[in-house]
Amino acid sequence: MSRILAIETSCDETAAAVIIDGKTIASNVVASQIDLHAKYGGVFPEIASRAHIEAIGAVVEQAMSEAKIGYNRLDAIAVTRGPGLVGSLLVGINFAKGLALATGLPLLGINHLEGHVYSLWLAEPDVDVEFPVVALIVSGGHSELLLMTGHGQYERLGGTLDDAAGEAFDKVGRILGLPFPGGPNIERAAQRGNAEAYHFPRAKRDESYDFSFSGLKTAVLREVTVAPGQSGDGSKKQSLDKHAKLRSDVSVPNAAASFQQALVDILVDKTVRAAKAHHAKAIFISGGVSANSALREQMKRRSELPVRVPPLSLCTDNAAMIGAAAHYRLLDGLQSDLDLDVVPLWLLTNDTYKVEI
Ligand code: KG4
Ligand code: ZN
Repeated sequence: MSRILAIETSCDETAAAVIIDGKTIASNVVASQIDLHAKYGGVFPEIASRAHIEAIGAVVEQAMSEAKIGYNRLDAIAVTRGPGLVGSLLVGINFAKGLALATGLPLLGINHLEGHVYSLWLAEPDVDVEFPVVALIVSGGHSELLLMTGHGQYERLGGTLDDAAGEAFDKVGRILGLPFPGGPNIERAAQRGNAEAYHFPRAKRDESYDFSFSGLKTAVLREVTVAPGQSGDGSKKQSLDKHAKLRSDVSVPNAAASFQQALVDILVDKTVRAAKAHHAKAIFISGGVSANSALREQMKRRSELPVRVPPLSLCTDNAAMIGAAAHYRLLDGLQSDLDLDVVPLWLLTNDTYKVEI
């Protein structure tokens, strides 16, 4: 049996959780900073690290008290080591090191992307997972397509060459005048829109498993905005300009639905093709964008394999998923040194834990 206190501070959520045996959530506390960043239209790194410092003590205390567990009954402390914002990661790592030092418990530095994959083990703890699995991780910072051949065993099939899927949602949300974060607000607007109203490009329709979303974002910008001083009646399409205004004849729900459909098409096409090519037994989708119901529904509709998605509460950043990943790392005998450092850029591959970074 393992009882792990996990801490996650890689971006703009201060989170702590206690996880039993990699599958049971004894507590899962998330303090979101969304309100602090909304006015900037994105995560402001210095504000994020300051807010983590203010919140982390209380968040960890709450996770321990909700789990009704003392430090003497824990087996390990896990913390997100990367990828993420360096200042934010440092707050979590330093806090975890302090706890490990004070309690004598083993410390495990965990890859945030691996955490997203392991949110699926928390979702349906009694399902026996058969490998290989094709895992799509789509979040604000990442779009990764992986072949998972066993616990902790990953082959990276592809990833984004420019913007991450969530980043594309957030940027297009801003273009359409929707509040931050763009993802859930685009999804909401799209429910009232026609996905065929605008024809946006499906970029990177090639044989690779890499994604590219910046062309799609630019296509939306050109289609729906005008430069200051132009009439806004649709007579002139706008070139890239950060002061561009929405054209008066643009339907935001239609533009949101058409953009969402283009992005979902790209993600579903490549994931389903990768799963077939690698004889996967299932498709796993995780990360903030996996909350999107169009993505969930279309992946299920277009794949003959079982498609597993986390419950909404485990799609966006949380520490429960870090605790689940840490359980399997602990079983593997992994333990980090107390001089563990953050790894702000850290892809998930088979070398992830072999290479000393
Ligand atoms: O996993 P996450 O919480 O943080 C990162 O690790 O980046 O993902 C946040 C991202 C944001 O870009 C947000 O817009 C997107 O997930 N997101 C969504 C939805 N809910 C959150 N994107 C599309 N549809 C949603 N329903
Ligand atoms: Zn994430």
